Amino acid sequence: NKGNYEHYMQKEIHEQPQSLKTTMRGRLIRGGSCKAKTVLLGGLKDHLKTIRRSRRILFIGCGTSYNAALAARPILEELSGIPVTMEIASDLLDRRGPIYREDTAVFVSQSGETADTLLALEYALENGALCVGITNTVGSAIARRTHCGVHINAGCEIGVASTKAYTSQIVVMAMLALAIGSDTISSQERREAIIDGLIELPNKIREVLKLDQKMKKLAQELMAEQSLLVFGRGYNYATALEGALKVKEVALMHSEGMLAGEMKHGPLALVDENLPIVVIATRDACFSKQQSVIQQLHARRGRLIVMCSEGDATVVCPGDNCRAIEVPLVEDCLQPVVNIVPLQLLAYHLTVLRGFNVDQPRNLAKSVTTQ
Ligand code: UD1
Ligand code: M6R
Repeated sequence: NKGNYEHYMQKEIHEQPQSLKTTMRGRLIRGGSCKAKTVLLGGLKDHLKTIRRSRRILFIGCGTSYNAALAARPILEELSGIPVTMEIASDLLDRRGPIYREDTAVFVSQSGETADTLLALEYALENGALCVGITNTVGSAIARRTHCGVHINAGCEIGVASTKAYTSQIVVMAMLALAIGSDTISSQERREAIIDGLIELPNKIREVLKLDQKMKKLAQELMAEQSLLVFGRGYNYATALEGALKVKEVALMHSEGMLAGEMKHGPLALVDENLPIVVIATRDACFSKQQSVIQQLHARRGRLIVMCSEGDATVVCPGDNCRAIEVPLVEDCLQPVVNIVPLQLLAYHLTVLRGFNVDQPRNLAKSVTTQ
């Protein structure tokens, strides 16, 4: 049932304040004034000690689920102090990469049925790793085969392009980081700030959704383009990859997400006055580095669209033909949840304007159950 919406993707984008609330329901415990705020993940509480003792955490997934894990990687590393490595499921299988008993392997999948992810799970089980699932589908193959896990509870996702599952996955992995780090006194304040940020997040998403018409106008400007680049770094490297994936998968426009730190190592050669480039430059520890990326692109007459924190448009935009997308500022590790929303809206409007099938892009299936 699409309700008042024309497409499931549109409905699922606009549902995110609600789906995020459901994801967090019963899992954030806000004590009285003297009691600390904590996270409770029922599916993991008996396994946290084992996870804390592991030598390495591997995130394994495909497509959007991989991108969500990439967005959560920095906060997991920060709060756990455990090395976190990223694996695209098919690539892990191609390499038969080493996995050990001392590893915790986290399998991220909306459907819980993706063949590559499921085969990587069988492989990790054979090698004796603790296998944790993060999935949206109760009773799915991945939920059943993992030793333990967390349901993201985002509600059924129908559009082939994953939207609300992405934001809920990031929130669950941020909660995973909080749970693993909960025995560390030195990070207590940081953890409480993140929990406060999580509680406020649905309201911030409601705010950022107000950019809908603005993103439609931007889509009108970009609809005839051949290509769109997206530069991000730090917490928002994943936002760049995921924004570009949305644009290519539904709007059928070539789009590439790139690590801004790699710009000078090749991509800069593409820059001219025609190619539109989105730069994500919301406030965090990487902000000044992104400002210099913007300056360098501007010096080469790049056609800039800058995503920045509210009130920063005049700070980040170097010239008159630079477009700014202002988004609410949240705790740095939660910023990717906010920042992806305008790009989801952009991909959606581009698709409608270009006349393509929004909910079932050509050649794609919602759940990829073959290798
Ligand atoms: C559970 C109930 C929820 C109830 C809540 C009350 C289910 C599915 N969930 O939620 O309805 O409101 O208790 O306390 O009945 N698991 C895996 N792999 C996965 C995902 C989950 O093994 O990929 C396992 C978990 O380890 C856990 C179980 O499935 O044993 C349920 O997980 P989850 O729904 O996340 O647990 P709760 O949030 O505690
Ligand atoms: O169900 P899963 O999360 O395992 O699916 C993984 C990918 O197939 C999926 O995220 C795909 O990339 C989406 N169509 C992206 O929108």
